[in-house]
Amino acid sequence: MNNFIAVFFLRTKNQGQTKPNSELQAMPRISLIVAIADNYAIGKDNALLCHLPADLKHFKQITTGRPIIMGRRTFESLPNGALPNRKNIVLTSSSASGSGYDTARSLDEAVALCKGDDEAFIIGGASVYKQYLNRADYMYITWIHANFAADTFFPEINFDEWQEVKREDFQPDEKNAYAYSFAEYKRIPINTINYKL
Ligand SMILES: NC(=O)c1ccc[n+]([C@@H]2O[C@H](COP(=O)([O-])OP(=O)(O)OC[C@H]3O[C@@H](n4cnc5c(N)ncnc54)[C@H](OP(=O)(O)O)[C@@H]3O)[C@@H](O)[C@H]2O)c1
Repeated sequence: MNNFIAVFFLRTKNQGQTKPNSELQAMPRISLIVAIADNYAIGKDNALLCHLPADLKHFKQITTGRPIIMGRRTFESLPNGALPNRKNIVLTSSSASGSGYDTARSLDEAVALCKGDDEAFIIGGASVYKQYLNRADYMYITWIHANFAADTFFPEINFDEWQEVKREDFQPDEKNAYAYSFAEYKRIPINTINYKL
């Protein structure tokens, strides 16, 4: 029924010319993925806080094959440029471009490049999380159970708006120096939030 309405709208708007299928494709779920320390630190000197191989593996597993959207500084922090097997989209106000990635000037422009994908990932950094936390439908958070000296922090999260749907806790081991948890949250629809008035 909804498709029928969409087709009808596009036909009317374009005086009978049906738009190509690409214009009817659903937009992806917008997910945010981040590793956050106990003090909400996420980075220092345009680098990650620590080397946590389990988190890098987790990030790769979740994002491979899907588009990733990042700020220009986070892109510049990647040691080998664009991450392989993922559509890399870099937010920047500049018109510069390079190989292996697309650029966009806003989240809307970035998401428009992800039509046909089921999920698009906001992967940082701080300025991008801050601007678009309220646009995310879903969050994958790695909680690193330590405090770090940092210059970059994640914004405050209002957990009244999020439901934790998954959590796995891990102790430090020979490869990972810190205890950590992989948690996932889905946004609670606004009309079902139980605000305490
Ligand atoms: N812990 C984690 O999971 C995690 C993940 C990612 C990053 N980080 C860390 O976060 C830090 C980097 O964060 P950051 O805040 O400094 O930089 P950033 O958010 O990665 O990049 C900022 C730049 O992105 C561009 N940008 C942002 N929003 C835009 C918009 N709406 N439209 C157009 N361009 C936009 C601008 O580029 P132009 O100046 O070119 O216009 C801006 O200067 C690093 O330490 C990094 O390691 C941590």
